[in-house]
Amino acid sequence: MMNNTSYIELSKKAYKSNIRFLKKVVGKDVKISSVIKGNAYGHGYEPIIKFAESSGINHFSVFSAYEAQQAFKFTSSKSDIMIFGFIPEDDFYWVIKNEIQFYIFSYEGLEKTLKIAKQLNKKARIHLEIETGFNRTGLEQEEFDKTILLILNNPKNVEICGICTHFAGAESIANYVRIQNQLNEFKDYYKYFTEKGINPKYTHTASSSASLIYPDTRFNLVRIGIAQYGFWPTMEVLITRSNQFGDKESSLKRVISWKTEIMSIKKVSKGEFIGYGNSFQAPKDMLIAIIPVGYNNGYSRSLSNRGHVLIHGKRADVIGVVTMNTISVNITDIKSAAVGDEVILIGKHNKNKITVASFSEMSNNLNYQVLARLPENIPRIVID
Ligand SMILES: Cc1ncc(COP(=O)(O)O)c(C=O)c1O
Repeated sequence: MMNNTSYIELSKKAYKSNIRFLKKVVGKDVKISSVIKGNAYGHGYEPIIKFAESSGINHFSVFSAYEAQQAFKFTSSKSDIMIFGFIPEDDFYWVIKNEIQFYIFSYEGLEKTLKIAKQLNKKARIHLEIETGFNRTGLEQEEFDKTILLILNNPKNVEICGICTHFAGAESIANYVRIQNQLNEFKDYYKYFTEKGINPKYTHTASSSASLIYPDTRFNLVRIGIAQYGFWPTMEVLITRSNQFGDKESSLKRVISWKTEIMSIKKVSKGEFIGYGNSFQAPKDMLIAIIPVGYNNGYSRSLSNRGHVLIHGKRADVIGVVTMNTISVNITDIKSAAVGDEVILIGKHNKNKITVASFSEMSNNLNYQVLARLPENIPRIVID
């Protein structure tokens, strides 16, 4: 099985269909920045960048300079990369030299940027991130005037690519009022900046959820992460879209499947314990399959005695504790299963499927976490 114990299949067709849907949602005047931080939400930088560019996307967002460097290996010269998070001091040179766009979220950050841009005789390509109530990063109101002045005094070394903010959880209706307050504040601040002579090319606030359900947050660019990979951010977003626009769950298609094979099969007698400790005792004589994927491979330990896989299209329950490198599943009712047979960890076989969400009912945000934890060294295979 190549050079690992499992592999990830990525459907180009599903990805393209998601981008078609998202383009239809946001309209032709709104640019989509594909958010590919966290190894493209675990999918892999290279395949996702290729899928995206062939779908007409030429703007990518990452969290850090390190991620920008990873993405930069695969993006075409026509594409832009934007960093909205951390740039260590040493990496500022690489970022500015390579015309990577990045967020400015403090006056000091702008001072540092200009110093380096001048040394390099380059224009730093910046997005001004404004604090509107998320309280993570963002320029505070008292920094506005001096920031604006510094920009206007240095036209040779700075290009205003954008002005932006980030919402505190648009995927949940419980945050509705907070989001609306943020949006109103952002509109006021945007006006203030433009009146003072700052004219950004892009104005952006929306991630997947806001792009889908709050049209007036789209401005002329949206930062789409989870939806491009085929996941609804939350059930609330799906229900809102389907009530308002008749969207179906299948308007977004899962791009990823995760597969492996049976490593060993074992008979266990009634009353025996299976795996570490005593969390599972065979209630009857059982047949179990050992699968070569554990928490070291991104299969969460919290799925001990809870997860499921598909073998021959049938669901097999994880029994006992997920170990570092293996899980055991119950194949007592899948008698024809043999060593080497395919095991689907995420994906579909006829009508049966294992969704990423079904990995746990614990939290709506778990999709993001399950995906982001998929190790980079699992081989990625592109299918049509
Ligand atoms: C600033 C910013 N924009 C956009 C996104 C994309 O979010 P989503 O995956 O929900 O589309 C993120 C992800 O957390 C983010 O931090």
